[in-house]
Amino acid sequence: MAILLKNIHKSFGHVNVLRGIDLEIPDNKVFCIVGASGAGKTTLLHIMGTIEKPDQGEVLYNGVSVFGQSDKQLSIFRNKHIGFIFQFHHLLPEFTALENVCIPALISGQNRKETEEHAAEILQKLGLEERLQHKPAALSGGEQQRVAVARSLINNPDVILADEPSGNLDSDNARDLHELFFKLKEDFGQTFVIITHNDDLADLSDQKITMKDGLLI
Ligand SMILES: Nc1ncnc2c1ncn2[C@@H]1O[C@H](COP(=O)(O)OP(=O)(O)O)[C@@H](O)[C@H]1O
Ligand SMILES: [Mg+2]
Repeated sequence: MAILLKNIHKSFGHVNVLRGIDLEIPDNKVFCIVGASGAGKTTLLHIMGTIEKPDQGEVLYNGVSVFGQSDKQLSIFRNKHIGFIFQFHHLLPEFTALENVCIPALISGQNRKETEEHAAEILQKLGLEERLQHKPAALSGGEQQRVAVARSLINNPDVILADEPSGNLDSDNARDLHELFFKLKEDFGQTFVIITHNDDLADLSDQKITMKDGLLI
């Protein structure tokens, strides 16, 4: 899916966090957003992901403006089409790796048994077949983040939005995670938008933009 952002503005109180962003994210690319802390990257990603609404401007997926929908329709759209990966994995501590991966599919009302089989398949693909029944605390940082990647994939999203996904990983685990993104792009044709401070990843990406003070430079 291609994503188009038109003249996005967003303020929190008196702070103008986004000051008119126009951006086109092509389909089936790894697209990186870089820039200093506080530049507005996370806010932009949340608006792109429909978690947050802009004060002004439009977000279009394959040419269709998304914020015209009701909140309910929007959450269905998001659950179906967008996968999220956060800096801190945000796995639920009381649930196993397998259960965590299943959650977005169960929310969308899919069959539990089929979902568990699919989740196990994805976890296996990510090299976690020995970790299905482990809870997050029993996993390494790299493993936790791969479980979060598996969870983002469970509903076969068209777009994956990742906010500093390798920010807490050592360089080997970061490299493995980055290779995984490119492999998934090849295998499944997904669009990746990744905020990163990692120069290796930004340099490998198909396209890179830099944000500064709420604008693209
Ligand atoms: N929910 C919020 N309420 C108030 N201020 C916020 C909120 N979210 C972000 N900000 C402010 O917006 C600015 C940009 O934040 P953010 O988008 O997180 O930037 P980045 O991800 O580039 O570090 C910061 O000054 C931050 O404090
Ligand atoms: Mg941020």
